[in-house]
Amino acid sequence: MSVPTPINASAGHDFESVDDVITRFGDAGYIADERLATTVFLQSRLDKPVLLEGPAGVGKTELAKTLAEVTGRRLLRLQCYEGQDETKALYEWDYGKQLLYTQVLKEKIGQLVADAESLGEAVDRISAQESVFFSERFLAPRPLLEAIRSEEPVVLLIDEVDRADEALEAVLLELLGENQVSVPELGTFTAKVAPYVILTSNNTRDLSAALKRRCLHSFLDYPTAERELEIVNSKDTGLSEALAGQLVEVVRGLRELELRKSPSISETVDWAKTLAVLGASELTAKLLNDTVSVVVKYDKDVRKATGAIPRLVDPNAVIDEDHGHGHGHGHGHGHGHDGDHTHDPEPAAVDEEDSGPDGVAIRAAKDQPGRHGNYYAGSTASTPSPIKDVPRTQGSRSFANGFGGSKKNRKG
Ligand SMILES: Nc1ncnc2c1ncn2[C@@H]1O[C@H](COP(=O)(O)OP(=O)(O)O)[C@@H](O)[C@H]1O
Ligand SMILES: [Mg+2]
Repeated sequence: MSVPTPINASAGHDFESVDDVITRFGDAGYIADERLATTVFLQSRLDKPVLLEGPAGVGKTELAKTLAEVTGRRLLRLQCYEGQDETKALYEWDYGKQLLYTQVLKEKIGQLVADAESLGEAVDRISAQESVFFSERFLAPRPLLEAIRSEEPVVLLIDEVDRADEALEAVLLELLGENQVSVPELGTFTAKVAPYVILTSNNTRDLSAALKRRCLHSFLDYPTAERELEIVNSKDTGLSEALAGQLVEVVRGLRELELRKSPSISETVDWAKTLAVLGASELTAKLLNDTVSVVVKYDKDVRKATGAIPRLVDPNAVIDEDHGHGHGHGHGHGHGHDGDHTHDPEPAAVDEEDSGPDGVAIRAAKDQPGRHGNYYAGSTASTPSPIKDVPRTQGSRSFANGFGGSKKNRKG
């Protein structure tokens, strides 16, 4: 095992100043405000993990990817999910390899116990050799241990930690507080270079005080209109700046509605691209209504949005109570998406009633109302969805991300 060496927090400063963070993140396509940039700067100097909390799609994951990109560090990612245990987060013993070795070494092991007088003696002899099989050779590191053992500096992203059970938080504490991981059979691994650890949470539940205490905490909300416009304009959407400005205002208006899932930054960007592709020369209520499914994904949300859009486009518009949409039904639309949502360009991706335990349901579960705190527009918390979070098996492994990410518009 590696000899614990003191952490050299100042292994060459990654950032000169807060402005340096803003500039370099900007060059990499991430528009950071001063508050966020200060958090990143402090992290690089104080050797503390950062906890980013906020609604979906405000740039939490992207921040970690961009941090890796601008510092030239490798990105290790632990995607959290319900039911995740430490063997998927820290390390596990490579059982298959252990078995293979015992098979191949059967004869050798046979010799070892050949002249044992009793079963007990045979067991004792075998157990005396246990350390051979619980050595680094048979250790399968998962992202957290991998980050600690890495020879070169890394960014460790612990994504959506609120999806994991509280028990996993306890597992994180040693790493967050001391940059180390203990493996009882082997000892304690300590990072040679402290990783930049970024935890994200969509705030679907409170994180423990112990975890929060160890982190620099930053709350990421939807950006100001000015910043959002800056982000949209930086993405080469093809939409003119003037129209993008109007669009941002409309999206901000939609966020004020009681929506189940408010539009995120990436959805504003997608909407701008959609409108550009359609050759929009002005933003009319009709055009926005026809394309609104780009930003709101639930049937009820679509109806609320189409009702509000005329007013958002033109505050003086006289709005027909019915919005003229002829939705002849109010609630309980379990079936029959076909035909009667005349102004829903596509049926809602998932309805409360008919989602199964598939990827769509997982996303829906993440976005369900009440999983967000007060800040989250549309969080009514009064109608818990029956959709349950489904344990995911993917994402449990670390991977070095290719950083195409920071310029992408979609969520990774
Ligand atoms: N500050 C920002 N600068 C540039 N793009 C951003 C910014 N914030 C969000 N985005 C865009 O929004 C997308 C979604 O962000 P993401 O990090 O996946 O959100 P989440 O907070 O859910 O992790 C990103 O891929 C990126 O294109
Ligand atoms: Mg994310």
